[in-house]
Amino acid sequence: MALTRPQLVARAAYALRGNDQGRLHVAAPNLYPHMWSWDAAFVAIGLARLSTLRALDELETLFAAQWRTGLVPHIVFTDGDAPYEPGPKRWTCRELCADAPSGASTSGLIQPPVHGVAVRRILDAARSAPAAERREVVERIRALWPSLLAWHRYLAAYRDADGLGQLMIYHGWESGMDNSPRWDAPYAAVLPGAEFVPFRRADLNALGLTGGAPSQRPTDAEYAKYQWLIQELRQVRYDDSRARDSLSFRVADVFAAAIFVAANEELATVADELGLPGADELIGYADRFRHGVLATTDERGFAADLDLRAGTVLRTETIAGFAPLLSGGLDPARQAALLAELTSPRWCGHPALQYAVPPTTSPLAVEFDPVRYWRGPQWPPMTWLLIWGLERSGEQEAALAIREAAIDQLADGLFAEYYDPFTSAPLGARPQSWSAAVALDLLAR
Ligand code: SER
Repeated sequence: MALTRPQLVARAAYALRGNDQGRLHVAAPNLYPHMWSWDAAFVAIGLARLSTLRALDELETLFAAQWRTGLVPHIVFTDGDAPYEPGPKRWTCRELCADAPSGASTSGLIQPPVHGVAVRRILDAARSAPAAERREVVERIRALWPSLLAWHRYLAAYRDADGLGQLMIYHGWESGMDNSPRWDAPYAAVLPGAEFVPFRRADLNALGLTGGAPSQRPTDAEYAKYQWLIQELRQVRYDDSRARDSLSFRVADVFAAAIFVAANEELATVADELGLPGADELIGYADRFRHGVLATTDERGFAADLDLRAGTVLRTETIAGFAPLLSGGLDPARQAALLAELTSPRWCGHPALQYAVPPTTSPLAVEFDPVRYWRGPQWPPMTWLLIWGLERSGEQEAALAIREAAIDQLADGLFAEYYDPFTSAPLGARPQSWSAAVALDLLAR
């Protein structure tokens, strides 16, 4: 039964509390018993509605695990030995790379840079907080600032070495959309070699504990490729300059690039407001990557990824195509066309959708699968990003319609990791911290 809005707020706060380990939230019990980078940013966005100081804890914990290069790792492992594969023994970052932090156990990949958005929203939320809290928030953002700048500098310098505004990723996990059809073509060229070290998947058991099925996760063949790429990264000792020339998966992630545009703009306003250094530099990154995003768009304003290894454009009917709604910069005609695309039967206007929020792959695409991870299901934080992007670009009416549908979907109070677009059956892990967090934010506005 659908919860009322006040019940839903209480339930979301309760769900987050259950995943709270003090200074970090695990992404979800069982399946993701550690901290994930972009999950943490969304968690901070939601927590800002409850406690700005607790929201900052989350970002501080993540950035305490930052690498010397500025890389913010996609997983920060918690102290316990909660099973997750690949765990620290498989990554061996510290053992192989002097840039890895000595005080934290991490993965050696990145995830999309939503963190600047979270910082902006924490500062906004602090406006209505008592003066002492507001002062503390400002002080802590100041203290975090060099790390935030280092993160953005890492992305601009190491992941866009040619300065084209294309964000290079080495692994589907870096996009956060592991098995999206976006990556089918590049993964076809990832072939585990004879030296492949066998592994045991931990995700399927973990998912089973909450009633999930293997049909909701990537396949074994995909997992072998995921693990193989980590082996390739280990071979180059997580050295970016070697990775970008040698890995068998090297693509430009247009959705992460668009997030980077927005995060740079958000952080630039923080710099201006608090008198912090780097505003012009951040605006420069925003302009560069916006140009990179827009250069991939078709006549609908729909964006594409690039296979940098094969030198091909990856046009897929996935949610990443809406990247320009985050980066901005489309001319009015193509902005209108992209909005029309979003509300068309290929996306939110598909007649069989239970809730009119964007599926991760168009239900009309051949690759669409309503239950398998990033190949169709709806993900609350992706819905949140598009609502936010629409609001930022002045598309209030469209934003409101999706927001109402998103809240209705979340009103089951389960905060599932993702949802079947046709039945809205909860899928994946639960409660997933970031689903509860975006519910808090959507309900607070
Ligand atoms: N999303 C991946 C997983 O399922 C890791 O980032 O474990």
